[in-house]
Amino acid sequence: MANILCIGAGYVGGPTMAVIAQKCPQHRVVVVDINEARIAAWQSDHLPIYEPGLDDMVRATRNKNLFFSTEVDRHIAEADIIFVSVNTPTKTFGQGAGKAADLQYWEKTARQILQNSTTPKIVVEKSTLPVRTAEAMEHILNSNGEGLHFDVVSNPEFLAEGTAVRNMENPDRVLIGARETPSGQKALQAIVDIYSQWVPRERIITTNLWSSELSKLVANAFLAQRISSINAISALCEKTGANVNEVAHAIGMDSRIGPHFLNASVGFGGSCFRKDILNLVYLCEYCGLSEIAGYWEQVVKMNEHQEARFVSNMLSAMFNTVAGKRIALLGVAFKANTSDTRESPALAVCRALLEERAEIVITDSHALDNARADLGADARRVTFEPDPYAAAAGAYAIAILTEWSYLAELDYQAIYQSMVRPAFVFDGRNILDHQSLFKMGFNVYAIGKPPLVHFQ
Ligand code: NAD
Ligand code: UGA
Repeated sequence: MANILCIGAGYVGGPTMAVIAQKCPQHRVVVVDINEARIAAWQSDHLPIYEPGLDDMVRATRNKNLFFSTEVDRHIAEADIIFVSVNTPTKTFGQGAGKAADLQYWEKTARQILQNSTTPKIVVEKSTLPVRTAEAMEHILNSNGEGLHFDVVSNPEFLAEGTAVRNMENPDRVLIGARETPSGQKALQAIVDIYSQWVPRERIITTNLWSSELSKLVANAFLAQRISSINAISALCEKTGANVNEVAHAIGMDSRIGPHFLNASVGFGGSCFRKDILNLVYLCEYCGLSEIAGYWEQVVKMNEHQEARFVSNMLSAMFNTVAGKRIALLGVAFKANTSDTRESPALAVCRALLEERAEIVITDSHALDNARADLGADARRVTFEPDPYAAAAGAYAIAILTEWSYLAELDYQAIYQSMVRPAFVFDGRNILDHQSLFKMGFNVYAIGKPPLVHFQ
């Protein structure tokens, strides 16, 4: 039996440890956080994050071999293996502001581990970090002067929100990087042993530390690059009469390209794509590779352009003014099946429309509380309405901004009847039946398709 600790009870720490606890009943798993409200929520019937399958998994393991606590120091002292899954946001100050990773939470954790340890431990990087962070971690941990030995292992997380439990239970691969020393390899084997309880050995990849750290940034950069690439093509489709869904299907059938991550949209969101690409850009700049940095930065710029283009299209369609017009934003989560609104394109669209003095009402089945918090002072100027029909009533336009399946199944005939005419629908996720909406009387604007309008 091992005492496994995870520091950071967020979107990664909570779900990953719930799965480890369920798959490894012989181990004791504790998740700690400095955020008392978050820990209280993990201990309650209302978990702090919405994630399909998570409630059942936590209910099955909590207080058996899965525990949530705010007593960070005590649990560090007891742990054999410590996963560190604290937030690593983009730095907002000083050198590298706007690009580099802010490692203050990370470094605090390293020091806290050092202060509270009396036995050797394996420390696992679960957070996404710049390459060679493990080296800095080793320097801090091994500065104890008491001969206590720490091994630092990299085990980046590839789960996507909304499918976190499924991704953890059946991962494409698990990546583990460690030092090529006897002690590093022993630590690596301890982490391999945990995952091999349920993951086939051939899907557990082992590498050196720096390859593991870099692969995480590169995986996110490649995924985001595909979205920016298809979004760039969506603009061309709108000008030429091509249909981006048909283009994506046609190119995705090429087995070398593949069909995934080719859904054109209002833009990618989420807490990681933007931050991780900018982190990669900063790393390239730091290494003197300015052309490489510029190449990857363009992925983020294209995403910003797509969000701005969506709002410009709304404005020009609605006779170049939305001031005083009620506009319903359908969906505010950054993607379907999550309550997370971090970096959601819906919030960017909302802010831009507020600048234009539109009256904004937002609806979403799970993400309204997070949207209110993320909008800060702007939230006062927005109406939050859980019922999509009430949100759309009296609106000049509706905009689909999250690919929630329930939004595709609404009664759009009833919605049309309740709206101001001419009524507009802007489908930022291409999930609606555009021809049938057009037949109902809507003017329909989708991503990467010619608009369907009733005016000459
Ligand atoms: P999060 O903000 O949801 O959770 C991080 C938690 O760490 C917070 O609850 C915070 O209070 C806690 N924390 C910070 N400092 C602490 C300390 N000193 N002691 C105890 N707790 C502390 O973040 P997240 O979305 O779970 O992401 C965590 C890391 O995982 C990031 O590096 C992220 O890039 C990476 N990641 C995230 C996802 C995702 O889907 N969200 C997927 C893969 C990787
Ligand atoms: C992403 C990666 O998919 C995970 O592998 C990674 O672990 C995680 O980032 C991370 O490091 O945080 P996530 O952000 O949760 O996961 O969700 P994705 O499914 O990747 O979607 C990201 C954004 O892209 C969403 O806004 C989504 O709507 C958008 N998207 C996705 C598109 O616009 N088009 C697509 O074809 C796919």
